[in-house]
Amino acid sequence: MDTISDILLNRRTIRKYSNDPVPMDLLDELLTMACRASTTGNMQVYSIIITREEARKRELAPLHFNQKMVTEAQVVLTFCADFNRFNKWCLMRKADPGYDNFLSFITASIDALIVAQTFCIAAEAKGMGICYLGTTTYMAHKIIDVLKLPKGVVPVTTITLGWPLDIPEQVERLPLEAVIHHETYCDYSSRQLEMIYKDKEERTDSIQFVKENNKDNLAQVFTDVRYKKADNVYFSNMLLQVLKDQGFMEQ
Ligand SMILES: Cc1cc2nc3c(=O)[nH]c(=O)nc-3n(C[C@H](O)[C@H](O)[C@H](O)COP(=O)(O)O)c2cc1C
Repeated sequence: MDTISDILLNRRTIRKYSNDPVPMDLLDELLTMACRASTTGNMQVYSIIITREEARKRELAPLHFNQKMVTEAQVVLTFCADFNRFNKWCLMRKADPGYDNFLSFITASIDALIVAQTFCIAAEAKGMGICYLGTTTYMAHKIIDVLKLPKGVVPVTTITLGWPLDIPEQVERLPLEAVIHHETYCDYSSRQLEMIYKDKEERTDSIQFVKENNKDNLAQVFTDVRYKKADNVYFSNMLLQVLKDQGFMEQ
């Protein structure tokens, strides 16, 4: 049996899944493990929406920019920051909830992300494959409609889950020194940045991306093609509106 270090060091995102079913008892087992994760004040201010029906996957697909994993994976899980349940319990008990603010959204989002990542590790330990979908926060307003999320609930991430069809190559990471700071933050000199990003820039696929997109370098592929300012500003404003509509910007 693989040790936890093997599982963590060998993992990679899986975007192609077989048709093998994911039984509900296996899903329950993974969810039970995930919900053992740390949670703020033991409040569990998150909810997880399970999508297994083809029709609803097809409704969700365009909201994830038609990434094929949404319809091809056996299961789609949407992890939500959720103060709705906790607020209702407080009100029922004549306790006055003060969770209609941005801090509470971040608190609930942290809870949701911790439970999501714990789920991913549990699934990968079973030999399953997962892919996060960052499109959730871009299209939260529409996902709210499809999943019928009430006020106090905001989707923060989605993962697709299934049995891997093939195992892709692992992709690189920055060297550990690039992301670790001892005691206090040590800001980066140009020389250090050159060293940190050297391997990434010299990869064959990076060189190919730069060429295909007619750019001067890899950084420009990120800023001008993959994560453009105009898109970021547009989706950022949409998300701020979602937070207002869902009652997290009242104070
Ligand atoms: C918050 C988050 C959002 C992501 N969104 C997407 C996505 O929308 N589509 C996708 O194919 N991969 C997505 N990924 C997966 C990353 O692309 C992937 O983790 C990264 O390229 C590193 O690859 P690895 O996980 O195989 O090591 C996302 C990952 C995270 C953590």
